[in-house]
Amino acid sequence: MGRCEGKVAFVTGAARGQGRSHAVRLAEEGADIIAVDICEDIATNLYPLSTPEDLKETARLVERHDRRIVAVQADVRDRTQLAAALEQGIAQLGKVDVVVANAGIMPAFGEPKLQAWTDVVDTNFLGIVNAVHAALPHLPDGASIIATGSAAAFMTGISTGQAGENPGGAGYQYAKLQVAEFMHEIARNVAPRMIRANVVHPTNCNTDMLNSDSMYRSFRPDLENPTREDALPAFPAQQAMPIPFVEPVDISNAVVYLASDESRYVTGLQLRIDGGSYLKFQDFHV
Ligand SMILES: NC(=O)c1ccc[n+]([C@@H]2O[C@H](COP(=O)([O-])OP(=O)(O)OC[C@H]3O[C@@H](n4cnc5c(N)ncnc54)[C@H](O)[C@@H]3O)[C@@H](O)[C@H]2O)c1
Repeated sequence: MGRCEGKVAFVTGAARGQGRSHAVRLAEEGADIIAVDICEDIATNLYPLSTPEDLKETARLVERHDRRIVAVQADVRDRTQLAAALEQGIAQLGKVDVVVANAGIMPAFGEPKLQAWTDVVDTNFLGIVNAVHAALPHLPDGASIIATGSAAAFMTGISTGQAGENPGGAGYQYAKLQVAEFMHEIARNVAPRMIRANVVHPTNCNTDMLNSDSMYRSFRPDLENPTREDALPAFPAQQAMPIPFVEPVDISNAVVYLASDESRYVTGLQLRIDGGSYLKFQDFHV
């Protein structure tokens, strides 16, 4: 019997990367999936987002585990659209027990555009609030809410440069910190119903977001057009452990635990899957 047998999980940003990996790992553990992704680009984000073909591929990978999936194109910035997608999934799969609010962008390290701040805060923070708030009226007692933060949430000021220099990067950090605080508050409010709310905070993760020209520029600001080969030696600087990045499945394994009843009394956690990034960048002793 799978660790998430019989559950239905709502996963945002599910067309590729970590979201796809979460959907597939949860399906492997017996969950049916409601998968949502924008499947189109956001202009300020300097690398392409997913495509409808990516979302179809996620569906194929979930079905390979004999689980059902309802895959819908929707933008997490639009609560009405997102709620309609979720309700379409619930209509077909009967319920929702798990929320994995994961969709995100990184519109940083290009021209300093204020629109980049707007887009990243709307996607990475409001998009999480929208996913949680759309799901709340449907969640049964004992449900699990999981949001994706970032090791960047704990590095305030380190990688955003001077004030106004990098609105997309600053907005990314701000949004991730807000996710941490929002989930802390949500956890307090849903606890009486035995619903738990936790955040996973990845460090560099081996997805298209990390493997993008704008991220290479953040690691090698001394070069005009750094390649992955130029940037790769700098990746381990982010972690205390001598690793360049973690894999999507490392985050998915934490998601499976938090989605399953194994974590039934675990709530309000800021779970860092970060190879010791926090240890490296914070002086706190707890
Ligand atoms: N990759 C990293 O190094 C890293 C590190 C820390 C945290 N994260 C976080 O992990 C999460 C997943 O990112 P990833 O690494 O898988 O990158 P990714 O770019 O591969 O995947 C992100 C997915 O979110 C989707 N998406 C973006 N904006 C959306 C919107 N408005 N509505 C619906 N879907 C949208 C994209 O189309 C894409 O499929 C993000 O929240 C990101 O901030 C990533």
